[in-house]
Parts: sequence; structure tokens; C-alpha cells
Amino acid sequence: MKFFIDTADIAEIEELAETGLVDGVTTNPSLVAKTGRKFTEVVADICKVVDGPVSAEVTATDAPTMIKEGRKLAEIAENVTVKVPLTPDGLKACRALRGDGTMVNVTLCFSSAQALLAAKAGASFISPFVGRLDDIAFDGLQLIEDIVDIYNNYDTIETEVLVASARSPLHVVQSAQMGAHVVTLPPKVLHQMYNHPLTDKGLAAFLEDWAKTGQTILDD
Ligand code: E4P
Repeated sequence: MKFFIDTADIAEIEELAETGLVDGVTTNPSLVAKTGRKFTEVVADICKVVDGPVSAEVTATDAPTMIKEGRKLAEIAENVTVKVPLTPDGLKACRALRGDGTMVNVTLCFSSAQALLAAKAGASFISPFVGRLDDIAFDGLQLIEDIVDIYNNYDTIETEVLVASARSPLHVVQSAQMGAHVVTLPPKVLHQMYNHPLTDKGLAAFLEDWAKTGQTILDD
């Protein structure tokens, strides 16, 4: 499973990229707004740090302008993935941008029917939002299972399922069990994934016993 990081904060991305665990980055207009920085500069900076796909979202709502915006964003770096919303115009833009050879992430997916449309439009990634579905008492992970099952029925579908709006390590683990290709993680969730009290307890005991030996590995 590929791990993307869901943030536009360059300091967070630099820190997490050092773990070697980051395969890409997703941003959205809300995350970019939080930085207070110029969008195109943020995207360029992220692309210098991460080689994998970096999602940058269009903000127009009509297909011709989305396509123009998408082409401008795609010029920033080879790994820019243009993000378009799951609307009729968004899917027209998806097809046109894919025709240019640009990667496209179709976002704001909340149903299997929408995911089928995105695959037919040639999306590189479909982003179902699990957390936002859970928020309204719909089972977000059930949607991931449904989309993975449907896509697996067709060899011709190359669209990757990108689990978005993840809120916890359980979202990550369960979507991996379902065979989702990618998850985009808020930095907090990636940090939470390391944690286990038995790891902390076990390490403390090992170090305590080691200290009693008076040895150091490097001075041996
Ligand atoms: C990523 O592509 C999405 O925009 C993001 O995961 C949405 O997350 P949220 O529901 O926590 O805002």
C-alpha cells in the first residue's frame, strides 16, 4: 500500500519524507489556505521534496477553465497530479488532462457509482472520503471495500483507490486489508501508527538490562 501525506505544510512534509515512508502528497484548497502561501509556490516546493505524485486541485467549476488550470499546474513539475472534483465537468477535465499524459486524482467521491464514472473517465486515482462518510453515520470503509471489489472485476480499470479523509490507524489497516492501493494520511495519523505501549515497555526493559552490562556496541 502506498502512503501519501495529506498536508500542504512543507515543514511537515520535509520531516516525514525523511522517514522514507512517503510515496506522495495530497493537498486541497483548504490545506493550501492554511499555509497562507501562494498555491503554485507551495506545489513547486512540495515537488522538490517528494518524487511521487503530488496532488494539486483545480478551483474552477467549468471544464474548459479546469483544463486550463490543470495544464498550468501540470507545468510546475512532472509529478504534479491534477485533482478535479467528481462532477460532470470535473470528469470532462479528467479525460482531457489524461489525454495530455497528466496524472489525475478525482476527489470528493462518496459512492461506488461515482467511482465507476471516474474509472471510465480514465482517472489515475479515485479519492473516496472515508472520514466524512463516517461523520454522517455512513460506513466509509464499506465504500472502500465496494470500490475495490468493483474495480477488481475489470482488468481494464487502472484507476487506483486512494483512501482519503482517513482519521485513524484503523482506517489505514482496514483499507489495506481490503486491497486499497493508496491511503493519504494526515501527519498525526502516520505518527499514531508507530505507537504501541508494548513496544515502549519492551524497549525500556531492554535498555535497562543492557545498561547493567556496562557495554557499548561501538566501543567493543
Ligand atoms: C485528500 O485528498 C482529501 O482532500 C482529504 O483527505 C480530506 O480530508 P478531511 O475530510 O479530513 O478534510
